[in-house]
Amino acid sequence: MKTLNQNEQKEKVGKVSIDTLIEKGLIFSGMKIGLGTGSTAMHAVKQVAARISDGTLKNIKAVSTSFQTTIACQELGIPVFSMNSPEIKGELDLAIDGADEIDADSNLIKGGGAALLLEKIVAYNSKVYVIITDESKAVCDLGTKFALPVEIIPEARVSITKQLEALGAKCVLREGLRKCGPVITDNGNQILDCTWQSVNGKSPINPSEMEDKINSITGVVETGFFTKNKPIIFIAKSDDSVEIRNMPCK
Ligand code: 5RP
Repeated sequence: MKTLNQNEQKEKVGKVSIDTLIEKGLIFSGMKIGLGTGSTAMHAVKQVAARISDGTLKNIKAVSTSFQTTIACQELGIPVFSMNSPEIKGELDLAIDGADEIDADSNLIKGGGAALLLEKIVAYNSKVYVIITDESKAVCDLGTKFALPVEIIPEARVSITKQLEALGAKCVLREGLRKCGPVITDNGNQILDCTWQSVNGKSPINPSEMEDKINSITGVVETGFFTKNKPIIFIAKSDDSVEIRNMPCK
């Protein structure tokens, strides 16, 4: 039996998701599509470009969620627009992205690549939301293993940290790689990575409630809990299969 490593799963799910969504009429010519960020989303971006160049998709209008994805779209010939442009009017037909963790209720942690703000603007303004991952991202519950990224206004770092600690979180300011000091996001902000201690082997938090609580703290720009627009989920497995969750019936 063929077995796929993590990178091969990411590539497979990027290709299979786009082609399945085209087959099912959820990706179509003329559509407004949000394109996510990260190594898995990049495979989907490449597959959209391949379907544009083979003539399957025409007149696609993309909104990108990061500098990384904008540069890829420019290099691959995918036309990129702002959410505010007259062509997009603040609303997308579909958005596709990767994730850091997915729980059994289709709640997500995102922001491992620090692109959570634009990713959420795109996700929460899309009629259809799609998440593509390798099998390592499917977990029982959220908040105790992969740290929840919270994008913050730098001047509010200390006050926000105190309030997150009052919500039970341990917070670490994300450091840059090959840069001294903290990561600065595409929007000029900083990231606090937050974890909770498990209780009897389970996460002590409700992701949807915690998303609202954290977003009500002054100076928080956005949290990496994505719980309000439930996605269709494609998960590539090491056994070469792809599990699909929440696909709507025709
Ligand atoms: C970026 C994200 C990514 O989608 C998430 O980190 C997954 O990345 P990858 O596909 O590289 O594992 O949320 O902010």
